[in-house]
Amino acid sequence: MMCHTSNALLLPIFFLFLTASFSNAAPNATYSGYFSKIYAFGDSFTDTGNTRSSSGPRFFRQVSQSPYGTTYFHHPTNRYSDGRLVIDFLANALSLPFLPPYLNRSADFSHGANFAVAGSTAIDHDFFVKNNVTLNITPQSLGTQLIWFDKFLQEKGCRKAKSPECIMAMKDALFWVGEIGVNDYAYTLASTVPSSTVQVLAVTKVMTSLQALLQKGAKYIVVQGLPLAGCLPLTLFLTPANDRDSFGCSASGNQVIQAHNSVLQSKIQELRKQYPKAFISYADYASAHRTVMMNPASFGLKETLTTCCGSGGPPYNFQPFATCGSPSASVCEDPTKYVNWDGVHLTEAMYGVVSDMLLRRGYCRPSFDQLLQSKKRIF
Ligand SMILES: *[C@@H]1O[C@H](CO)[C@@H](O)[C@H](O)[C@H]1NC(C)=O
Ligand SMILES: *[C@@H]1O[C@H](CO)[C@@H](O)[C@H](O)[C@H]1NC(C)=O
Ligand SMILES: *[C@@H]1O[C@H](CO)[C@@H](O)[C@H](O)[C@H]1NC(C)=O
Repeated sequence: MMCHTSNALLLPIFFLFLTASFSNAAPNATYSGYFSKIYAFGDSFTDTGNTRSSSGPRFFRQVSQSPYGTTYFHHPTNRYSDGRLVIDFLANALSLPFLPPYLNRSADFSHGANFAVAGSTAIDHDFFVKNNVTLNITPQSLGTQLIWFDKFLQEKGCRKAKSPECIMAMKDALFWVGEIGVNDYAYTLASTVPSSTVQVLAVTKVMTSLQALLQKGAKYIVVQGLPLAGCLPLTLFLTPANDRDSFGCSASGNQVIQAHNSVLQSKIQELRKQYPKAFISYADYASAHRTVMMNPASFGLKETLTTCCGSGGPPYNFQPFATCGSPSASVCEDPTKYVNWDGVHLTEAMYGVVSDMLLRRGYCRPSFDQLLQSKKRIF
């Protein structure tokens, strides 16, 4: 009995510690000295400011306003979150400055550039236009980002692979291909385009883009899989209540994601054979997300399917025409307890947890540690 009582007293204290350390689980700078720069690609999950709020993702055009950016930066930065994204935690872990958006021409790009742009698709924009999917969608795609990257290299005097300028631009660079493809599925949801077509075209586009980067001399690449889009409040708002898995997420939505991720991984495996000198790691965002869904409390999180910033109240606190930043939306008291920020994008707390899992807990395969070990230290 005594024993029981003392356990009951000790356990909450123990958990307090555990959750406190996890909610600040942002990877810190123990990985310094490996890379001098990062080149990043992706969509709003990775964009650090390339977006223009007037043309960014539909429903989320208040990204330039408070309460976006409220947590860490204390002002809006055009990041789709209350604070930092995975790419920010990565930069921090590598002891590099936050990655500036390519479109800010006055930024300092000596430690890399971020080409990710919110609303971006993997598949070229033409495809959507041809299929009559044009309503308010972002014209930029992964192809646009590669064009930007080429321009960026040319500005550095890099025109021909293996020229000294190109070697300099590629040297000690980590390529981070953030999730890309969720928008392709989202935009075609109400169209005649089947998701199987989107899968083939989107994965193919990611693979040809990776090949283009490898041809240019990329050696260290992390490719993020898609997150569990079936668990986003927007998806839950759009799907019927009988389409739910054991976490309360959209079962059909997550099936599409799983199928996409498994094809992506097998194609990456083929790519590794074609480029044996390159190190290509798959960042398993969906598994990280699922692990959090299984036991949010062990990561210091509480609300998994409700937005922190939105309107409409339970269960999802999400209304597409009164999203975060609009007058009728409000912000939760403690964003560190929420997985989801605005209905689609995640909170800094969740991005911190995911970063920790990807960089330190084996959710990159091969692991991020193995990637670093394959790379000579530069200092
Ligand atoms: C940084 O990482 C080390 C090793 O993982 C850990 O011991 C330390 O507490 C961390 N510091 C902060 C401020 O998170
Ligand atoms: C662009 O970068 C400069 C230099 O870092 C910074 O002062 C400025 O605020 C940035 N502009 C925008 C629109 O973010
Ligand atoms: C797109 O819309 C036009 C005009 O309504 C129609 O003629 C065409 O068949 C549509 N294309 C597809 C792929 O649905």
